[in-house]
Amino acid sequence: MGLDDFKTNQEVKVIDTSRKLRVGIIGCGWIAVSHIKALLNQPDVEIVAGADLIPGKAKAFFEKFGVEGVKTDYASHKEMLDDKSLKLDAVSICTYNRQHAIPAIYALEKGVNVLLEKPFTVTLDEAVEVCRAEKKSGKLLSIGFQPRMDENMKMIKRIVESGELGKIYYIQTGGGRRRGIPTPYGTTFIEDKTAGLGALGDIGCYSLDMVLNAIGYPKPLTVSGYKSAFFGTDPNYSHYKKIGHPEYAKLFGVDDFAAAFIRLEGGIILDFRIAWAMNLDTPGDTIIMGTKGSLRIPSTECWNGTVGGAMTLYHEVCGEQTQTEIPILKTKGDLFDLKIRTFLDAIKENGTAPVPSSQILFNQAIIDGIAKSAECGREVEIKIPKI
Ligand SMILES: NC(=O)c1ccc[n+]([C@@H]2O[C@H](COP(=O)([O-])OP(=O)(O)OC[C@H]3O[C@@H](n4cnc5c(N)ncnc54)[C@H](O)[C@@H]3O)[C@@H](O)[C@H]2O)c1
Repeated sequence: MGLDDFKTNQEVKVIDTSRKLRVGIIGCGWIAVSHIKALLNQPDVEIVAGADLIPGKAKAFFEKFGVEGVKTDYASHKEMLDDKSLKLDAVSICTYNRQHAIPAIYALEKGVNVLLEKPFTVTLDEAVEVCRAEKKSGKLLSIGFQPRMDENMKMIKRIVESGELGKIYYIQTGGGRRRGIPTPYGTTFIEDKTAGLGALGDIGCYSLDMVLNAIGYPKPLTVSGYKSAFFGTDPNYSHYKKIGHPEYAKLFGVDDFAAAFIRLEGGIILDFRIAWAMNLDTPGDTIIMGTKGSLRIPSTECWNGTVGGAMTLYHEVCGEQTQTEIPILKTKGDLFDLKIRTFLDAIKENGTAPVPSSQILFNQAIIDGIAKSAECGREVEIKIPKI
């Protein structure tokens, strides 16, 4: 088997512009910028509405992008979704984590397809409720993991599926930033009342998805987790000083580091660590160890769920230990465009969600298990209710 066997043909789709999709945006903050830019690149999308809890924020947001005719006079997601005149096909939910489940459930109940930003939710209970609403609605729900669209991420999955690694028995994943507690536009990432989860949910969900998607999302069984917040709660944390906000330390109510040992169905061990801040460059590359071969996936400096450099496959050829470098592949197009496009295509073609909730439910169950185990200080069993 050569490297070409792993390569994909990246499809170029012709978009049917005769059917336009009417789309709204819920939450007009930082990430909504990436959504609107990607939506504006789609020739079959009409952006018809936007809502934000902060009065005037949605209006100013659409004006900034020069998008006209967008209805924004809504006090929250609810009023917008109650407005039948909008005839919404889909919404992008770009609210902070604690406001993921509520608008997602409401939109699904109103028969609107949902693209929900990551992490799925804060708790497993919330994720279960969203999955149930999705099932009842018959509508599409996709979770916003744009790294899935990256050709290198697809390559990891193809390598696993090719059998080149044999039986997988141990995985180490995670990563982090040396100084990277996100406070780009305020404190919604760091306050418990808005974020609910810190590094664990924000970037931990990507690390988990990278490997779990590759191995087919086996069910998580048990977890022993740890979390801490030494940097976020420190008024002398250098980043707070740099941005002139030492008071953020008092507001910090989530984790800035988490680690866990997780048992997955099929006898696979998952060793995980994630950091928004640490006195280290990286807590390690991602490694997938198998009976025939192992894969090393370099971590990135600013951990955002992508691949940090060429991957290495460690295996034997004719009894000789050898290494094969898997060069970085270029993805055609922007990851956000692809995340939006695949979601819109699935709506139009009655297809399945590009990043289905049935998978991300397991991702959320692990995050929830880590938080619970860290709080009670012992290993916990992961119980996922039936949807
Ligand atoms: N996919 C990515 O690469 C990526 C990157 C950054 C953030 N995110 C995710 O996007 C989400 C939002 O992050 P952000 O940085 O844009 O936050 P933000 O605080 O800048 O914006 C969130 C906005 O949502 C609004 N809002 C909250 N609840 C609402 C409701 N019920 N109805 C209407 N508006 C509501 C808030 O008022 C706020 O303006 C987070 O969950 C984050 O994890 C994803």
